[in-house]
Amino acid sequence: MILVIGGAGYIGSHMVKYLLQRGESVVVLDNFSTGHRAAVRDATVVEGDLRDMETLQRVFTQYPIECVMHFAAFIFAGESMRHPAKYYDNNVLGCLRLLEAMRISGVSQIIFSSTAAVYGEPQQIPIPETHPLQPTNAYGETKRVMEGMLHWYGQAYGIRSIALRYFNAAGADPEGELGEDHRPEEHLIPLVLFAGMGKRPNVSVFGTDYDTPDGTCIRDYIHVWDLCEAHYLALQRLRSGAPSTVYNLGNGQGYSVLEVIRTAEQVIGKPIPVVYAERRAGDPVRLVASAEKAQRELGWKPQYPDLATMIEHAYRWFLKHPEGYDS
Ligand SMILES: NC(=O)c1ccc[n+]([C@@H]2O[C@H](COP(=O)([O-])OP(=O)(O)OC[C@H]3O[C@@H](n4cnc5c(N)ncnc54)[C@H](O)[C@@H]3O)[C@@H](O)[C@H]2O)c1
Repeated sequence: MILVIGGAGYIGSHMVKYLLQRGESVVVLDNFSTGHRAAVRDATVVEGDLRDMETLQRVFTQYPIECVMHFAAFIFAGESMRHPAKYYDNNVLGCLRLLEAMRISGVSQIIFSSTAAVYGEPQQIPIPETHPLQPTNAYGETKRVMEGMLHWYGQAYGIRSIALRYFNAAGADPEGELGEDHRPEEHLIPLVLFAGMGKRPNVSVFGTDYDTPDGTCIRDYIHVWDLCEAHYLALQRLRSGAPSTVYNLGNGQGYSVLEVIRTAEQVIGKPIPVVYAERRAGDPVRLVASAEKAQRELGWKPQYPDLATMIEHAYRWFLKHPEGYDS
């Protein structure tokens, strides 16, 4: 059985669906701090907090857990600069409690949601996994610390881990049942679509004088369903006894903020109102993955690498769910 922690969130809920479709048995642990009960209708759900040792031990005693997939974290770089304590508490303390509970219960496999934010300002593009880890925001720093914890728990206690460093997760369930519902939303594609749909007056573009062809930041977008597939391949790899490792998950292709907006305009068929604003502190200019290692070792090949498809899947879900999971 797979324990999906944070399975009611954006990526975790897609993962639960993916695993169930492949005949895996799944239990979700979530405290619904940012996730949605409606996103995990088909799974066994334990409501509880990752930082609570008693809850964790109860889950590990009650269910025969083979592997943990750990999605639960606070995720916004900007907020982490204003409230680092909140991020250390939930992300770092949560991970420590989880690893302790795994050690005590003898559960020895974990797949961890890491992030491109561990790299900071890249020294080379595309970014390989061997690039130095120098996060420029507290969120990225908590993930770097958590990766370190996985490493040392592996060395000392034999817990095998695969840390997956996602670049920008995007899109929605290709079947249209699940989508992205962060409150407040800070991710570019939903914000662009909300501006296009009239749910917001406009979308802000932070910084127009970066050293890029159109002056706006460049990011690598990866479809949420492709992320799920990579997790599933990582699970097979752990099952085969492979040692701990780290993989980047991205498409190896960068799109500027303005390119995302122009592509969204084509998808929805109307202009999107834009407001130009100052640069934000801690935003790297370019983040583009080398996902060559995941392709080579996991045999992972993204099915939905096209930006327009990601935007289209997101848009379809927002049209059907104008109030997100409250619709
Ligand atoms: N969304 C992205 O683009 C992106 C990019 C890189 C990495 N990640 C990582 O992927 C993971 C999932 O991201 P997401 O966008 O799905 O976030 P999300 O906020 O939608 O999901 C997080 C889930 O974890 C739950 N949770 C949080 N703290 C908890 C706790 N203490 N106990 C129990 N449950 C808790 C929340 O209720 C929510 O259901 C995160 O670890 C994030 O850092 C996301």
